[in-house]
Amino acid sequence: MATVGELARQHTELSKEQIAHIVNLVGEWGMLADLCFADLMLHVPTTDGDWAVIAQVRAATGQTLHITDFVGTRYAEPDRPLIAQAHRTGTIIEGEIKVDGIIDDCLMMAIPVKLEDTVIAVLTREWSRRSGRQPGELERTYLEIFDRFSQMVAAGGFPFQGRVADSSVAPRVGDGAIMLDEGARIRYASPNATSALHRVGIKATLVGQTLAELGVIDSSVRQAFERCEPIVEEFEQTSEVTLLTRCIPIVEHTADGPRATGAVMLLRDVSELRRRDRMILSKDATIREIHHRVKNNLQTISSLLRLQGRRLESAEAKAAVAESVRRIRTIALVHETLSREPGDDVAFIEIVRPLLRLVEEGLQSPDRPMRFTVIGDGGRLPATVATPLSVVLTELLQNAIDHGFPVGGGGGNVVVSLEHDDEWLSITVVDDGRGIDPAFDLGAQTGLGLSIVRTLVTTELAGSIDMRQATAEELAMVSLAPAEGNSGTVIELRVPLVGD
Ligand SMILES: Nc1ncnc2c1ncn2[C@@H]1O[C@H](COP(=O)(O)OP(=O)(O)O)[C@@H](O)[C@H]1O
Ligand SMILES: [Mg+2]
Repeated sequence: MATVGELARQHTELSKEQIAHIVNLVGEWGMLADLCFADLMLHVPTTDGDWAVIAQVRAATGQTLHITDFVGTRYAEPDRPLIAQAHRTGTIIEGEIKVDGIIDDCLMMAIPVKLEDTVIAVLTREWSRRSGRQPGELERTYLEIFDRFSQMVAAGGFPFQGRVADSSVAPRVGDGAIMLDEGARIRYASPNATSALHRVGIKATLVGQTLAELGVIDSSVRQAFERCEPIVEEFEQTSEVTLLTRCIPIVEHTADGPRATGAVMLLRDVSELRRRDRMILSKDATIREIHHRVKNNLQTISSLLRLQGRRLESAEAKAAVAESVRRIRTIALVHETLSREPGDDVAFIEIVRPLLRLVEEGLQSPDRPMRFTVIGDGGRLPATVATPLSVVLTELLQNAIDHGFPVGGGGGNVVVSLEHDDEWLSITVVDDGRGIDPAFDLGAQTGLGLSIVRTLVTTELAGSIDMRQATAEELAMVSLAPAEGNSGTVIELRVPLVGD
């Protein structure tokens, strides 16, 4: 779907500045549609003498006249004479139109969109007399304000020039609107605006007062009147209530320069939103703090175990304790990474790298130089997947060192490849070490390391694991060429990433 700027470039010869003006107008016109309770469309004359509709908006306050979306359609000038007339004369034209499927009379108001004395497009308001709202005070006031903004559009004063306060975050008319007169006194406040002010304890009659007199923070109003441009402001009116406001001045250009002759202030009670923002922020911080503490506790345990290991005599017992220390440190490392991340998931590569360092630190024999390589990345994983996977990876790396390259036999390479899509993560660990027996049966292994690996992968992660002697291609794929007598080992893991 092309944007309004792209459509304008496609269909017209308008200059960059003129297109920017149109884009600004479309950024602001939700308010205009709401104020006039009707559909708005933007028409531009095309390079070949026809017309094209390049934008359309419906009012949040009224019923739509056109179910069809006309954006991108073209028509010949005689089909819609009012538009051409508004364009030619530079004046606002009103008249009847025919709309397919509707018998009763429909009306159109064609407003020339001017920029520096040139009419560049035509804005139309299209509505039906019958489906219109019952005219009450709100309707009369809004329509009058709409008329004044229309005059500004036709005079080139709306949308506002330059970089003005962003309208995308602004409240809409239906959220609450206050109309201010020339002296910034309230002329009218919509029911939603009145309710919002009630919540901050303002129960006085609003009409005739200024916001300052009512005790409402009014710096956006003052600035809008002074600078003659829209101002967005969010403020805590009370400790409980946060209001988001946007004040749009109605500007007339006089001989002495621009002057605000009134304004619309849109306001919305965003207290609940902000409360939730704050809660999420503090919840995030709490989760991080917990990960931090878990990491500290695990480090304490691993230090104590290490001390205990040093006092042991039996080599077997020493090795068992050392393995436990390594496993605990692996989990601590995951928590450390999680304590630095905002959410409850981590980029897996952020864990794999330090994990390799951890295994490297454990290598002490200089006669066994090992090279570790990581290929690819594993994407982001939830903590529930990252933790068991890290334990699994540590076991596999440790096995590659311990069994692939027995002490005295020289060093070698271990390559970890990560690959993922939206549904799966696969991890392949290849070493160019001694290799395993071709008849090796993973299911029959009773060693603690591979039992842990099997249980975590198949039960906890619902994945699969395959371990086999490496083929020549598999080794070549990761640029490994085993030394004489070595055949290398491949371990392949596949883990689903979408929970059931
Ligand atoms: N990368 C590897 N290269 C060669 N043999 C391996 C490799 N990984 C595992 N093995 C074999 O699998 C066995 C079981 O491993 P494991 O369950 O971790 O127990 P442990 O490491 O305590 O011996 C090892 O003793 C070894 O024979
Ligand atoms: Mg092992």
